[in-house]
Amino acid sequence: MSDRVFPEGFLWGAAISSFQAEMGLGKPSDGTDWWAWVHDQTNIDVKRVSGDTPLNGPGFWELYDEDMRRAKEELGCNSVRLSIDWGRIFPEPTTLVEAKVSKDHLGNVVDVELDRKALGRLKGLADMDAVRHYREILASARSHGLTPMATLYHWPIPLWLHDPIACRDNLDEAEHRGWLDQGTIVEFAKYSAFIADQMGDLIDLYATVNEARIVAEHGYLTERGEFPPGLNDPSLFVRCMKHLSMAHGVAYQQVKRWDKEKTSPLGPATVGVVAVLQAFEPDDPKKPEDAAASRLVEYMFNEWNLNAVFHGDYDMNADMVIQPAEQHPWLVKGCDYIGVNYYTKWRVKSKGRGGDPLLDFEFAPGRGQLSDYGWETYPWGLRKVVDWAYRRYRRPIYVTENGVADAEDRLRTRYLTGHLEELQKAIEQDQVPVKGYYHWTLTDSFEWSDGYKIHFGLYRVDPETKERTPTKAIQAFKMIASTNSLPSKNL
Ligand code: BGC
Repeated sequence: MSDRVFPEGFLWGAAISSFQAEMGLGKPSDGTDWWAWVHDQTNIDVKRVSGDTPLNGPGFWELYDEDMRRAKEELGCNSVRLSIDWGRIFPEPTTLVEAKVSKDHLGNVVDVELDRKALGRLKGLADMDAVRHYREILASARSHGLTPMATLYHWPIPLWLHDPIACRDNLDEAEHRGWLDQGTIVEFAKYSAFIADQMGDLIDLYATVNEARIVAEHGYLTERGEFPPGLNDPSLFVRCMKHLSMAHGVAYQQVKRWDKEKTSPLGPATVGVVAVLQAFEPDDPKKPEDAAASRLVEYMFNEWNLNAVFHGDYDMNADMVIQPAEQHPWLVKGCDYIGVNYYTKWRVKSKGRGGDPLLDFEFAPGRGQLSDYGWETYPWGLRKVVDWAYRRYRRPIYVTENGVADAEDRLRTRYLTGHLEELQKAIEQDQVPVKGYYHWTLTDSFEWSDGYKIHFGLYRVDPETKERTPTKAIQAFKMIASTNSLPSKNL
C-alpha cells in the first residue's frame, strides 16, 4: 500500500479546449476572433501566428466518444475538463435580447438580470444543433464515468463582439472591441445563463474564465502581439484584466441562478475561476531592479485578477497599492474554487530602460531541464502556488492545467510524476484542500499562435488519419489515477 494517497473523491482528468481540439474533421467554427486572427495574412507574414489552421486539429467534435473512452479506460480518469465555444452557440448577436443591466456610479456593470422570456429569445438565436451536440459530448463523458468540468470562456469570442483585425489596425475606429468594452460582459452573462439553463442537467462543475492574465498579456502587452488583437499598451492590458475579472462575476451569478439541477455531489453548480499561477523569481536576486521587476510581475500576473475576483480590488494604475477609489466590493459575486494552471517558473529580468515598468521587463532563459517551449521544469512551484492561493483566498483548489511541451516524449512522465509528488505534499503536509488534477492536454491540439509544432498531448495525433498514439506518460497517469495514489517508489 502506498502512503502517498490523494483524498477520497479526488478528480483525475485531462483538459482540452474547444478551439484547440474540436476542429479537424467536420464543419469549422469560423465565427470567432481567434478564427479571424490565425487566418489573417498580415499576422502570418509578420509571424504573430504560425500560419497553421485549427482545421487540421484532432477532430474532437466528431471523435469525442472515443476520446472519452480513452480517458476512462486508458488513463483511469474520473473527470474531464472541456470548454464550450461561445461562437458555435451564438453565431448571431445576442445584443438585442433584453436584459436589465445595473451599473454602479462609475459605469461598471454590476448585475445582468434575465427572465424566462429572455432565455427563450436566446434559444431562438442559438444554434440548437451545436447545443445538442455539446449535450451529446457531455452525456458521453458521463456515460464513461467522467464528471465534466465545463469552461465557459477559453478564449475565442464571437466576431460580432470582437473584430481583432479592425482593433489591431485602428482601435479608435473599431466597432467591436471585445473585452475592452463592458458590453461584452453583458453578452457573456447572457451566454452563461443560456448554457446553465440548457446544459445544467449535465454539468455541475463550471469554470468561468480561463486565464484572464494570458488573454490580457498576450493580447495587449507583449511585443510580438501574438493573441488578438495584438496591441502593446499597459493601460489596455489592465482594462482587459478588469473586464475579465468582472466577467467571472457575472457568469458566476448567472450559473448559480439558472442551473438548479444537481447531478453529482458537486451540484447543482460549483463555479470557479481559472488562474494561471506561475513561479516567479528575479533572474539575478542580487540586482534590486530584477527583484523589483519580479515582484511586480508576480503581483500583476498571479494576484491582480484574484484580488479583483475575491476582494473587489481593482488596482488600475498597477502600483501595488489599492486606493479607496480602486475598491469595488460590490463587484465581488463569489467564487467556489480556484482553478490553478501551473506550468513553470519564470526568471524575471529588468530591461533597465525605465519608463512604464510593465514594459520594462523580460524573461531570462530558463535553466536546467527545458521543454520545447524553453520552459523550465520546476515541480516545487506547483506546491508553492497552490499553497499561496489557498492561504490567501481560502477556497478549494483544482489544478485545472499542468503539462509539458515535449514532441520527443523525453520529459512527460517525469514531469507528470514530479508535479504530482509536490501536489500530494501540498495536500498532506500543507493541508491544502486540492480537489482534482487535470493534465494539459488529452491529445495534441492547436497551440494558439504557435499551431502544431508544440506537443502537449498525452496522445500524439496523426494529422491525416486523426489516429491517437499514446505517449509513455499514460502508463504512469493510469497507475496514479486508478489507485488514487503515488507509487511507494518514484516512477
Ligand atoms: C492554456 C492552454 C494552452 C496551454 C499551453 C494555457 O495557458 O489554457 O490553452 O494550450 O497553456 O500553452
